[in-house]
Amino acid sequence: MSHTERLPRNRTYLMCPPDHFTVEYAINPWMDTTVAVDAGLALKQWQILRETLTGLGHEVHVLDPQPGLPDMVYAANGAFSVDGTVYGALFRHPQRAAEATHHALFYRDGAWTFIDPAQVNEGEGDFAYLPGAYGGLILAGHGFRTESSAHAEAQEILGKPVISLRLVDPAFYHLDTALAALDDRHITYYPEAFSPASQRILAQLFPDAVIADRADAEAFGLNLVSDGRHVVLNAEATAMAAKVEAAGYIPIPVELSELKRGGGSVKCAVAELRL
Ligand code: ARG
Repeated sequence: MSHTERLPRNRTYLMCPPDHFTVEYAINPWMDTTVAVDAGLALKQWQILRETLTGLGHEVHVLDPQPGLPDMVYAANGAFSVDGTVYGALFRHPQRAAEATHHALFYRDGAWTFIDPAQVNEGEGDFAYLPGAYGGLILAGHGFRTESSAHAEAQEILGKPVISLRLVDPAFYHLDTALAALDDRHITYYPEAFSPASQRILAQLFPDAVIADRADAEAFGLNLVSDGRHVVLNAEATAMAAKVEAAGYIPIPVELSELKRGGGSVKCAVAELRL
């Protein structure tokens, strides 16, 4: 393992408080509509996550939560931005469709070039950006939510090469449950969440990746947010924390037991705004 000093970069994020968070429908294998969510605990955990990010010096914008959109807390799914251009989301499931409009309004209000999507895609849930890899590379997942046609659309809109990766395990239905950027050029991922061909592509492009195992992925340890030095991840993912630490990063565990009931964790709740 390399012990290079890992340098942080100030980030801007978008989050949405879980005011209306419930598990009232099941669109991924983690969601159990028979188990109640602790709304007070969900909000407390979300606030600690937000304070953790601001405490690291990052800016966090907050989106107004909307009644009737219980998954809106998973703000990562609402869009994907690269260098000031925003590729909007088009949700696969009707239960989440209206979330896209609220994200679009946020970007249209600001200094962003917002592009409406024609293809089904769930924003940063299925897209990751590595600005320092190969001059700027987008990794994209398909198989459960985002259509591979959206990968081509994102490439045309964002002007960066998109590497299409096929997800094969329903437990890891979004790219961000199986792979994360640790900094501008390094990733961590759980190989078995991907098709054999996609595993070969990841091994070719990222020979120095931090390799996670099934237990790491099930603890939502890959659903992390990193600023290049500090890696904020689900507290349950202790083995994953040890792996990123051995790779020279500083793990920062946060408790997100309630968000896990909806099938998400740190990264799902945080969209990065890349100007
Ligand atoms: N219940 C949400 C869904 O199934 C969870 C989304 C998690 N977000 C993420 N970026 N992986 O759509």
